[in-house]
Amino acid sequence: MIIVKDNYFHLSTDKTSYVFMINEAGLPEHIYYGKKIGRKDGSLNVTALRERIGFVPGNTVNYSPEHERLSLEAYSSEYSALGHGDIREPSIIIVHPNGSVTSDFIFESHEVLDELSEDIEKSKLPHSYDENGSYEHLKIILKDRVYEEKLELHYFVYPNEDVITKSVMLKNEGDAEIRVERLMSGCMEFPFTSFKVTSFRGRWAHEMNRCDNIITGGKMVLSSSQGSSGSRCNPFFIMSDMPVTENTGRAYGFNLVYSGDHYSALETSAYGKTRLVSGINPDSFSYILGAGEMIAAPEAVLSYSEEGYNGLSRNMHHFIRKHIVRGYWRDRERPILLNSWEAAYFDINESKLLKLAKVGKECGMELFVMDDGWFGRRDDDKSSLGDWYENKKKLPNGLKGLVEKINKMGMKFGIWVEPEMVSVDSDLYREHPEYTMEIQGQMHSEGRNQRVLNLADPKVIDYLYEKLEAVFSSANIEYVKWDMNRVFSDVYAGNLPAENQGEVSYRHMLGLYELLDRLTKAFPEILFEGCASGGNRFDLGMLCYFPQIWASDNTDAISRIDIEKGYSYGYPMNTVSSHVSGVPNHQTLRVVPIETRFNIAVLGVLGYESNLLDFSKEDIEKIKKQVALYKEWRGMLMSGDFYRTDPYEKDQGLIREGLAGFYSGNNNTDSFTIVSSDKEKAVAVIVRRMAVANDSAQKLYVNGLDDEAEYHLYNIKYDNNIKEFGDLINTVSPIHIKQDSMMQNIISKFVHLKGDEEDVVLSGSEMKNAGVSLAPSFGGTGYEDGMRLFSDYSSRLYFIEKI
Ligand code: GLA
Repeated sequence: MIIVKDNYFHLSTDKTSYVFMINEAGLPEHIYYGKKIGRKDGSLNVTALRERIGFVPGNTVNYSPEHERLSLEAYSSEYSALGHGDIREPSIIIVHPNGSVTSDFIFESHEVLDELSEDIEKSKLPHSYDENGSYEHLKIILKDRVYEEKLELHYFVYPNEDVITKSVMLKNEGDAEIRVERLMSGCMEFPFTSFKVTSFRGRWAHEMNRCDNIITGGKMVLSSSQGSSGSRCNPFFIMSDMPVTENTGRAYGFNLVYSGDHYSALETSAYGKTRLVSGINPDSFSYILGAGEMIAAPEAVLSYSEEGYNGLSRNMHHFIRKHIVRGYWRDRERPILLNSWEAAYFDINESKLLKLAKVGKECGMELFVMDDGWFGRRDDDKSSLGDWYENKKKLPNGLKGLVEKINKMGMKFGIWVEPEMVSVDSDLYREHPEYTMEIQGQMHSEGRNQRVLNLADPKVIDYLYEKLEAVFSSANIEYVKWDMNRVFSDVYAGNLPAENQGEVSYRHMLGLYELLDRLTKAFPEILFEGCASGGNRFDLGMLCYFPQIWASDNTDAISRIDIEKGYSYGYPMNTVSSHVSGVPNHQTLRVVPIETRFNIAVLGVLGYESNLLDFSKEDIEKIKKQVALYKEWRGMLMSGDFYRTDPYEKDQGLIREGLAGFYSGNNNTDSFTIVSSDKEKAVAVIVRRMAVANDSAQKLYVNGLDDEAEYHLYNIKYDNNIKEFGDLINTVSPIHIKQDSMMQNIISKFVHLKGDEEDVVLSGSEMKNAGVSLAPSFGGTGYEDGMRLFSDYSSRLYFIEKI
């Protein structure tokens, strides 16, 4: 609901309120964001809510003689600017025609709209959408007191998801050009200076590590300068009012619908407030806005929850699923894929791929993906990016021939491309070196032996469209993995004059979005999967085009616990692509049981990526069962609500079981639950990193079910293998069994030890609050049938159905 009354604007969702006003000076003043407030009709007493200042404080600057009580350093801004005493983070910096950088935007008009405005569509930036077209959209127009510049602040309200988004546009209505040095997507102030910032940081193969910083003063910047949103610091972050746990406490979440360099600064003020500005990273942005031109900042996404991190995550998940991800695949179950990368790397050819696909098909997989190595003369990562035609030596029957054979097997076919890049050793580079981002006369630094194409040049976009359109329509291609494998450096666009070079990063991003827009519209039924050396561009901008993203090149299930958990804070798990791979794992050399590899992969969109031809018969049989099981539960796993049961709750003094229990060991056991939206079904996963001795009684807490309804909880029964006991088996065996001997192998095939079996009926409230007592785990003091072997890297899946 959007209420415009007197001089204030009250935007409310089901559970939250966002309030700002136009003050006496005509400046937009932020009043409140948080739990829903106000009377039944949404009206507020804003005069009593806004900060009351007697005199301009201390040595701060008075905004103007007519407004004696107004100091921009001390008030709460809805969109801050440089000058007139505002010495905190600006939302906008414009160098006006006379060289001044002072801006003074005051209210001109407002409009409540029920659609996305044309300007936003023209901006070419991706944007959230409402399928039913029933937008709640507020547009505020501000005008500089002196210069012919107008700012549009757009607010979109998504009531059911408790999300509000903001977009900003700047118009130069003067007759001279201006230079925009900063254009943030939003600004907001909080009336406190002590809070926790939770950001998600990492590096290649180690993405989305949760990082908590307590801020009591100063400034904190979360940003990326790598040319993409990046793995160093994802644009999603949380601000919380301590204490907050997974299920309790107040948390604000922020994200940007942008895939380039981003910037969010949280600055505490001398006057007890914290200002947040968020948008494009100004370090790589300096834009000349000609007379009559307009520029847009990417959309910012805000959410608030009183139900802890899980509550905030659910808001973000619902919003992204419905209002960011779009198109044919949005609500469809995604195919279980088999990817050739970790199976064969660059060493692929038709017969190898067909053999691999055949095993995949036998296991029940639905989509075969040919990864890197199929084009040009691509035998390693040193050449051929840009040459998007098949290598006839590897694919003698062409792409079409291979795809037809895969289709005949009953599998869909998918392909890998990395269109934004070029190898110097490629026909494309030899023909069009000018398409590359290069600075004449300066050394160019390469990453993974490749250079970046200049997507700020419309010619390059047209060229790429044409080439990719040809590839995608040359055969029955039903899936595309769109990769991007390097950090940007030496950013420069040969098609732009010197004075416009500060625009390249932004224009490059617009070019990319245009290309993606054209291709996804031309091929609406292709399932596109984003990738950037794994999770180096996992953001809401990409999710407007790609319904799923390869979350990390790290396929080790134990590493993936943290990576996937990290994503789950801000992104729905049906956007997080996750594969079962071989052991020892190629990134960590860790050997994790195939059950756990699967149990972690099912949290996201399931795929397999390994040379299944070398897998044991036993493992292939297990995979067949996994695939069948996943198909049965896939719809619910993809669309259900995700809950973390997190040892972080320990931080807040909520240790439920002390030393001996489920949370024992630091961050040692994780548990997640996915609950269908009608609360009829759920799947819970627990996973243990390291075995703990003498720790047999453990509980499983299941969130999100109907409190009073009864549920049947069960697990998949499987036997304990005597091999897992090593030589300990000799304490009960009548004959000596040597470890790893042929005898041990034979006995293990015939002697079956009954494993743990859960089969209980409990109410939702019992499962959530009292917890399900699990079968005792082996603790070093004895063994009996039905014990749970919960050693290193062990995990369990539990299925829960309403009775
Ligand atoms: C990147 C991707 C991998 C794989 C390789 C191919 O690293 O993240 O999944 O596609 O490129 O070169």
